[in-house]
Amino acid sequence: MRYVEAGDLHLSVIGLGTWQFGSREWGYGAAYADDIAPAIVQRAIELGVTLIDTAEIYGFGRSECIVGQAIRGRRDGLVIATKLVPVLPLPAVVDWQVRGSLRRLGVDALDLYQVHFPNPLVSPRSTMAPLRALLEQGLVRHVGVSNHSLGRWRASERALGQPILTNQVRFSLAAPLPSWELVPYARKEGRVVIAYSPLGQGLLGGGHTLTGAAPADVRRRSPLFRPRSLGLASPLLAALRVVAAAHAATPAQVALAWLIGQGNVVAIPGARTVAQLEENVAAADLELTTGERERLGAEAARFDMAVRR
Ligand SMILES: NC(=O)c1ccc[n+]([C@@H]2O[C@H](COP(=O)([O-])OP(=O)(O)OC[C@H]3O[C@@H](n4cnc5c(N)ncnc54)[C@H](OP(=O)(O)O)[C@@H]3O)[C@@H](O)[C@H]2O)c1
Repeated sequence: MRYVEAGDLHLSVIGLGTWQFGSREWGYGAAYADDIAPAIVQRAIELGVTLIDTAEIYGFGRSECIVGQAIRGRRDGLVIATKLVPVLPLPAVVDWQVRGSLRRLGVDALDLYQVHFPNPLVSPRSTMAPLRALLEQGLVRHVGVSNHSLGRWRASERALGQPILTNQVRFSLAAPLPSWELVPYARKEGRVVIAYSPLGQGLLGGGHTLTGAAPADVRRRSPLFRPRSLGLASPLLAALRVVAAAHAATPAQVALAWLIGQGNVVAIPGARTVAQLEENVAAADLELTTGERERLGAEAARFDMAVRR
């Protein structure tokens, strides 16, 4: 495993996303929630993963409960990151929300408490005021943001009165926009972009284009899994396969290596099986050449433009 340091956050370049845990949207079922998800967390920790990402909204708290059970007795050195839905960020409401997350996770403090998305009806100042209080009380070690533009990220930093070390955004070869503005800011200012859906929700693994149809879960509603998008992804997936063959790696590993090779980027892939988790973690050691990175970046930009058209 390799790590990125930001302040006193020691972030594995490959973290673990846990939206899948106990969530109806993904529909992985009861055996997954009861047995496979805890095994994924335990194997991730054994392999050096420090960053575990969840949210109060995932499975309406079930994901936090599963993570909490799985890290019991293994919490040292982990960066437990969860997210606040900022619908009504009044001090009493936020206090109630953070205490719920702490209880479900079974921890005394959250390492990273992320504002899940910017609420357009609430200013950064009003959003950050109760979070500052949580920092002062020691319930939260770091405040993070998610789905924030560069402008809103910086405005939130001004409102909090200190750097916000992380911004978690959709970022992959299927959604490459953050590499143009957010990543340069992170590199220049010592911040970190946390890439969510880093495998394009599994699209970049390559298996789903073979069937030409979206899986029967949350991905049915994703623009990436429409038949047209699956067709448009062929050149990008072909490029991934060529690079993967040159490194005796898989397309998913190359997709992750492209992200974390940008610098100041960590990725938090979700996993359906322990084997997927192990494959994803191994991507931390994969280094692409400049030519490979450029070829993949060009294919990603072409795909992104075609899908938006
Ligand atoms: N902040 C936010 O608003 C936000 C939004 C979305 C997600 N997130 C976070 O980011 C995490 C990851 O994003 P995500 O789950 O949406 O998408 P993702 O990580 O890109 O995709 C996960 C899916 O890809 C497939 N997969 C995983 N490893 C694979 C491998 N090695 N080879 C082939 N397929 C593989 C699995 O699905 P199948 O095997 O079923 O295909 C898995 O469920 C979430 O768990 C969550 O923690 C945050």
